[in-house]
Amino acid sequence: MSQSMRAIAVEEPGKGYRLVLSTVERPQPGPGEVLVQVAAAGINRADIAQALGGYPPPKGASPILGLEVSGHIVALGPQVEGWRIGDEVCALLAGGGYAEFAVVPVPCLLPVPQGVDLVAAAALPEVHFTVWTNLMDSARLDVGQSVLIHGGSSGIGTAAIQLCTARGHRVFATAGSADKCAACIGFGAERAINYRSEDFVAVVKEATEGRGVDVILDMVGGDYIERNFHALALNGRLVNIAFMAGAQANVNFGVMLMKRLSFMATTLRARSSEEKGRIGAALRAQVWPLIAAGKIRPVVDSVLPLSRAMEAHTRMASSAHIGKILLTTAD
Ligand SMILES: NC(=O)c1ccc[n+]([C@@H]2O[C@H](COP(=O)([O-])OP(=O)(O)OC[C@H]3O[C@@H](n4cnc5c(N)ncnc54)[C@H](OP(=O)(O)O)[C@@H]3O)[C@@H](O)[C@H]2O)c1
Repeated sequence: MSQSMRAIAVEEPGKGYRLVLSTVERPQPGPGEVLVQVAAAGINRADIAQALGGYPPPKGASPILGLEVSGHIVALGPQVEGWRIGDEVCALLAGGGYAEFAVVPVPCLLPVPQGVDLVAAAALPEVHFTVWTNLMDSARLDVGQSVLIHGGSSGIGTAAIQLCTARGHRVFATAGSADKCAACIGFGAERAINYRSEDFVAVVKEATEGRGVDVILDMVGGDYIERNFHALALNGRLVNIAFMAGAQANVNFGVMLMKRLSFMATTLRARSSEEKGRIGAALRAQVWPLIAAGKIRPVVDSVLPLSRAMEAHTRMASSAHIGKILLTTAD
């Protein structure tokens, strides 16, 4: 007999969407999967895009919103090794997080790092998978190199600043208010640039004696694309994970030739579980020890009960937050 659970449903997907609590069938883990009783789920802008109707889940993924959770393993599917019922975990999902239970493919599971609260652990997966694969795999950020992180106060930005600082890189960040800039400095940025009153190209150039930075992590796009080229050093790498200010721009690519630049853009959600597992293994080896040592922490802006998911979306859309917004199943 199937069991039920509470989950968030999207009513009237599109501009006036509403998030409401509903009762649905509890999912069952298949081969190589576990069932997690969710303690908390992270909110992501992709969830907002999905509710607006513009970002459907990849084939085979749960139609329920939610790309990351923390919680306990309560059931193991066939062919699962290395995990036990009762283990405290956090996980990256292709969907299904805004619910009391979520099915997770084993490669997408990570233990809750030592010293991290179970609810706060839901703030870790999406940002650290994204930051690691973009900065290390794609942009090949090397020892001693410098980096500019746009959206420094975002979930992604707060993780990226801390990771790069902990690994000894020179970090610059941009953000849209004095408070957000102060937060970026608190996370370890050498210089936070308020993009509303300062030109990040000029600030970065001045701070690096005209050289520029080796790597830029960008989520803004639009007119930042060409300005990023100017802020990069010779052989610099620009990696975009979103184009919040627009995916179209009038760009003079000439500077790319002269400075031998690389421009990349990636998404995480539709990658295979195996590929996500390779990133997860790197996180477990390289990043989780830094979290356990207190050098990187989950940055939690706010925690709301599942029933207030709509409020959580409104807060994210307002950009008033610093770090991650979480939903907890403990109403
Ligand atoms: N490609 C991938 O695999 C991947 C993975 C995860 C996330 N993402 C994307 O990366 C972006 C950041 O994610 P997140 O969860 O860290 O987001 P977030 O916490 O909501 O932060 C985004 C921040 O970006 C800043 N921003 C700068 N320019 C903006 C603009 N034109 N429109 C809106 N915000 C602007 C805002 O702060 P200010 O006040 O400083 O402007 C805002 O708070 C999102 O677009 C997300 O969908 C992509």
